[in-house]
Amino acid sequence: MIIAEKISEVKKYIKEWKKAGYSIGLVPTMGYLHEGHASLIERAVAENDKVVVSDFVNPIQFGANEDLATYPRDFDADCKLCSELGADLIFHPEPEEMYGDAFYSYAGVNTLSEGLCGKSRPTHFNGVCTVVTKLFNISEADRAYFGEKDFQQLAIVRRMVKDLNYNIEIIGCPIIREEDGLAKSSRNSYLNPEERKAAVILHKALTQGKEMICSGEKKAETIVKTITEIIESEPLSKIDYVELVDSEKLKPVKTIEGPILTAVAVYIGKTRLIDNFFVD
Ligand code: PAF
Repeated sequence: MIIAEKISEVKKYIKEWKKAGYSIGLVPTMGYLHEGHASLIERAVAENDKVVVSDFVNPIQFGANEDLATYPRDFDADCKLCSELGADLIFHPEPEEMYGDAFYSYAGVNTLSEGLCGKSRPTHFNGVCTVVTKLFNISEADRAYFGEKDFQQLAIVRRMVKDLNYNIEIIGCPIIREEDGLAKSSRNSYLNPEERKAAVILHKALTQGKEMICSGEKKAETIVKTITEIIESEPLSKIDYVELVDSEKLKPVKTIEGPILTAVAVYIGKTRLIDNFFVD
């Protein structure tokens, strides 16, 4: 597996691969890879001739008081996993390589990025759109793979690709969970043992919400209330949001009439976790 730190190196390999007629899959990550990322890489390997994994903690998607400095990193373990899974290239640039000393251009999607996580993280999605645009351009990938745990991110990237006619197919992959239901996330590593136990409350509450929807409950308010009460029963939790939104426009709904996303963001201690479920 090739390890590349420079954009020019990646471009050199991509040029060769394109010339040979290979299809290219991209898995954008911020590293500290877990089974969730592994599922994306496995799918990319199965569906493409060549697979590029980017491993870059993107500074511009973090707000001023967020966890950029402490975000977990283990590049050696990431390389080992990517190589075992059959990735062809891991791209691990320094922030200077991606943004230089001056950077003036940004990508973004309005409306979709205003609600849910966008409310408490107002600059986050422009940072994500900008870095994925750069990664799409650098890798010239035919397909890019994103996890459904970050459902809003996935919806925003899909919309950007559609609105701006990017030549790439966006593939969403299911959430991978721990045995007790907690969604896999690099940020789970922040949880101490007591918090780790408490974190299962997100999944418990969402499972109850899903059962209510599947048994015919149509009032969003009733479902939000039940989910909120279950989460609040856990003393270590503090809710950022509990929302039912339509899965395309991500706007809150009052009554369930079509495909629906139920999403939560909850602090367990100091760690902010997100989770969701989608009902078609
Ligand atoms: O989901 C993530 O890990 C990041 O937001 C992404 C898509 C790699 C962009 O930095």
